[in-house]
Amino acid sequence: MTDRAALAAETRLLAPMGEADLDAVLAIETAAAAFPWLRGHFADSLKAGYSGWVLRLGGEIVGFAMVMAAVDEAHLLNIAVAPALHRRGLGRWLLIKVMDAARQAGLFSMLLEVRPSNLGAVALYQDLGFVEIGRRKGYYPAADGREDAIVMQRALVETQA
Ligand SMILES: CC(C)(COP(=O)(O)OP(=O)(O)OC[C@H]1O[C@@H](n2cnc3c(N)ncnc32)[C@H](O)[C@@H]1OP(=O)(O)O)[C@@H](O)C(=O)NCCC(=O)NCCS
Repeated sequence: MTDRAALAAETRLLAPMGEADLDAVLAIETAAAAFPWLRGHFADSLKAGYSGWVLRLGGEIVGFAMVMAAVDEAHLLNIAVAPALHRRGLGRWLLIKVMDAARQAGLFSMLLEVRPSNLGAVALYQDLGFVEIGRRKGYYPAADGREDAIVMQRALVETQA
């Protein structure tokens, strides 16, 4: 699985995240995120009824997303793809599928926060039509103190993977 063509041949599946997926999810999160969620964050999110999703590629979990519904808006709390598979279109595919699922659940928009220093994620979100609607001061812990969050939003309309 070294390029997009080879990856495209693998079956991609979006599936609900369950407790049994947490080892794989945590391994991806720990490898991918600068300030990773702990197992309890994922377990509590599932217990709270948030929508956890895993991306399976050829059966193996290679990405995940966690979405909280707030009234009629989906709040993307976390998303990651296994680092070895970055820049192969999987994050885009995953987020499009998660947006589709939120739309099908009757939600009208999606909101997210992202670090300004996370250029890859910001680029992905912009590419998928998210626009900045505000900033939260000192929202994130950072190596040298705190980092602001960019708040981004987009309407949920028909999308194509
Ligand atoms: C953000 C993340 C999920 C993207 O996953 P991915 O599978 O690498 O993304 P894709 O390959 O689908 O990228 C789609 C587009 O997003 C943009 N993009 C993604 N990563 C990028 C990077 N590192 N630099 C610049 N642009 C990037 C590009 O426009 C890319 O299209 P292109 O490859 O045709 O140029 C992944 O980098 C990740 O897991 N990061 C760590 C966790 C994280 O930061 N999550 C977001 C928290 S807010």
